[in-house]
Amino acid sequence: QRPIVRLLSCPGTVAKDLRRDEQPSGSVETGFEDKIPKRRFSEMQNERREQAQRTVLIHCPEKISENKFLKYLSQFGPINNHFFYESFGLYAVVEFCQKESIGSLQNGTHTPSTAMETAIPFRSRFFNLKLKNQTSERSRVRSSNQLPRSNKQLFELLCYAESIDDQLNTLLKEFQLTEENTKLRYLTCSLIEDMAAAYFPDCIVRPFGSSVNTFGKLGCDLDMFLDLDETRNLSAHKISGNFLMEFQVKNVPSERIATQKILSVLGECLDHFGPGCVGVQKILNARCPLVRFSHQASGFQCDLTTNNRIALTSSELLYIYGALDSRVRALVFSVRCWARAHSLTSSIPGAWITNFSLTMMVIFFLQRRSPPILPTLDSLKTLAEDKCVIEGNNCTFVRDLSRIKPSQNTETLELLLKEFFEYFGNFAFDKNSINIRQGREQNKPDSSPLYIQNPFETSLNISKNVSQSQLQKFVDLARESAWILQQEDTDRPSISSNRPWGLVSLLLPSAPNRKSFTKKKSNKFAIETVKNLLESLKGNRTENFTKTSGK
Ligand code: GTP
Ligand code: MG
Repeated sequence: QRPIVRLLSCPGTVAKDLRRDEQPSGSVETGFEDKIPKRRFSEMQNERREQAQRTVLIHCPEKISENKFLKYLSQFGPINNHFFYESFGLYAVVEFCQKESIGSLQNGTHTPSTAMETAIPFRSRFFNLKLKNQTSERSRVRSSNQLPRSNKQLFELLCYAESIDDQLNTLLKEFQLTEENTKLRYLTCSLIEDMAAAYFPDCIVRPFGSSVNTFGKLGCDLDMFLDLDETRNLSAHKISGNFLMEFQVKNVPSERIATQKILSVLGECLDHFGPGCVGVQKILNARCPLVRFSHQASGFQCDLTTNNRIALTSSELLYIYGALDSRVRALVFSVRCWARAHSLTSSIPGAWITNFSLTMMVIFFLQRRSPPILPTLDSLKTLAEDKCVIEGNNCTFVRDLSRIKPSQNTETLELLLKEFFEYFGNFAFDKNSINIRQGREQNKPDSSPLYIQNPFETSLNISKNVSQSQLQKFVDLARESAWILQQEDTDRPSISSNRPWGLVSLLLPSAPNRKSFTKKKSNKFAIETVKNLLESLKGNRTENFTKTSGK
């Protein structure tokens, strides 16, 4: 099923028809289409945030007439675009042209009452639409998919691809976040922002991580952080005179305690009053305290943190790397899928490698090509327009994509994938660390099995959680995958064949050519998995819980 997004003409906006199967490739810049985004990260974020503020989420009857639905909603103001999706029921995302329309809609909305239960009155932008007379509509609307295809369908698609390059690009197209999914992510943040605004009226809830860094896969979690910089009013106007006016505030001994207190009340608030927020867990003793919950209507697993500006900056850096060359995202998606297929990553935190670390490894590898495909972070720093220091860490790098020269390297994705596995299959992990700031290996500063320098907090290792056995598993699989791709050179089936080949051979754990390998190792892996699970459960209960889930 193809998703449909209809954009009606609005004053001040350009009418666009985004029906995906009719869209000339790359004609609309969304940040997630094949076309490489050239907008600044901050521009993209602001634009999407503003769109989300004009948007509502509506739970609809299963069968509904799209025309009648739109006609009904148009009473409250002109609609810019809408789409439907299914997630335990039918939902509609409706973007009005003007923010004011939402007030009108809320004024025409009732708080439900039932005989058995009492509703906690709360006026959000999440509604329930009911049919007045119970005559149900015949027609079903077309709904947009929020999850990728099944593995079976995907493998079929990949088997019929023309080349390994084609396979990598197909995988990217199938898994990348769609326009609708991205809208839903920004809308969810915006709905949470409304809740947080009850305490902090000027706060902003910003998405970060793979939802915005262009490396997100359909189904990935939604990382969001509560930005209180406006509330802190860091840029308060300078007023002349002999006095300085300050707010009366409560003080606590540390930033960490302040964060815990803020997240604690927000967790309570989401739990008690947040429509659609379920399974709220306050994980406040973690290294990076967070509130985790499911947003039922969107189906997103959400992690809310505060004070996480460096993570947002990391997301911006990855966004830039993803935008510089079309091969970057294709390679990262394939490596992430490969790692997931072999249980190198997991949704449970533990001694596993994370998607964030894998992305850093791909970036580092692309910096090491000759000529390099990606510039080092230090060279992005020299091109910077402005200096940026966050919590004492130098986060200066160029934000304007047009200032970065494209690479002269013309290597194919097939070659790069093979070389990636060879490079890391033979990397001296025992001696060297990975450092995207300088784009070269350095001596490891400690004995962690895998050391990937945090690009901004340079004394930290982002893969500190990875155990020796997990690293060894990565190395073994990388070597084996390089070998499989080497064999492919001589052993490629004809195009019409649906025999697993190329990328599919790498993604199948039980491919014939890896059977003997899998058999030998399977017992050992099972023991390791149990060991890692125990380690992670232990870790969950301690202060050292780190955010290490790798979907
Ligand atoms: P997914 O697995 O698709 O969710 O990828 P992700 O990049 O969103 O990873 P995750 O949800 O685990 O973390 C969200 C963001 O937090 C990442 O993109 C990073 O910016 C940051 N982050 C995650 N782990 C670490 C870490 O160990 N160190 C640092 N400095 N930042 C991290
Ligand atoms: Mg994430």
